[in-house]
Amino acid sequence: MTGRLYGLGVGPGDPELVTLKAVRLLRAAAVVAYPAPDDGASFARSVVASILSPAQTEIAIPVPMTPAVAPAQAVYERAAAEIAGHLDAGRDVAVLCQGDPFFYGSFIQIFARLAARYPTLVVPGVSSLAACAAAAGLPLAVRDDVLTVIPAPLAEKELEARLAQAEAAAVIKLGRHFAKVHRVLTRLGRAAGTIYVERASLESQRVLPLSEVDASAVPYFSLLLVRRPDPAAP
Ligand SMILES: C[S@@+](CC[C@H](N)C(=O)[O-])C[C@H]1O[C@@H](n2cnc3c(N)ncnc32)[C@H](O)[C@@H]1O
Repeated sequence: MTGRLYGLGVGPGDPELVTLKAVRLLRAAAVVAYPAPDDGASFARSVVASILSPAQTEIAIPVPMTPAVAPAQAVYERAAAEIAGHLDAGRDVAVLCQGDPFFYGSFIQIFARLAARYPTLVVPGVSSLAACAAAAGLPLAVRDDVLTVIPAPLAEKELEARLAQAEAAAVIKLGRHFAKVHRVLTRLGRAAGTIYVERASLESQRVLPLSEVDASAVPYFSLLLVRRPDPAAP
């Protein structure tokens, strides 16, 4: 019998926001895999570090920090092959995913390659959107609002078109794209109602009005919550 593949959402950073189900499956898994940037430690692993045991085999998937597709695909091919080797040997593999696995998570790369061949279970996690809304004390959307999620790496023109159409919006993957997004929101007259949230749920969490953000120090783990325009405003 083959092992089982688990995609475990570990939430936005606070270890108390990991679900009981993820903890149970993680403790029982023989192998634990997680994305890790070339230049640093895995954020997903750090969230559950206290649960891991030295008896577990760990696989760090070196996520390339480049928009180019080919090297990333080669990395995921190698990682999927290594994980498949363990599954074929009957060992369960837990793949850790920051936030929720199916909300812009790199777990899709492993899922797409292996889910049809092995019994697979995806355990949802608290996404960054939910964590940032809670941190800001700001509902993501209410009543019939349409919530739009927009990745900041989009071209400036497209960002502007999407944000111009949006009621409530969340702009994710901010980092080095912050200045571009700020320009667009200012042009659209939406800057004043926008809240910036950095590292939600961690001790280093920061919540600021957009106007107070230092553009030179915006980390990857940050997003913007853009409020629905006030219909009474001119
Ligand atoms: C590739 S997406 C992954 C999202 C993740 N799967 C989730 O469910 O939240 C990464 C982006 O999520 C946002 N993000 C993730 N964790 C965050 C946190 N703790 N605080 C603020 N933003 C966060 C940032 O915009 C970051 O660039």
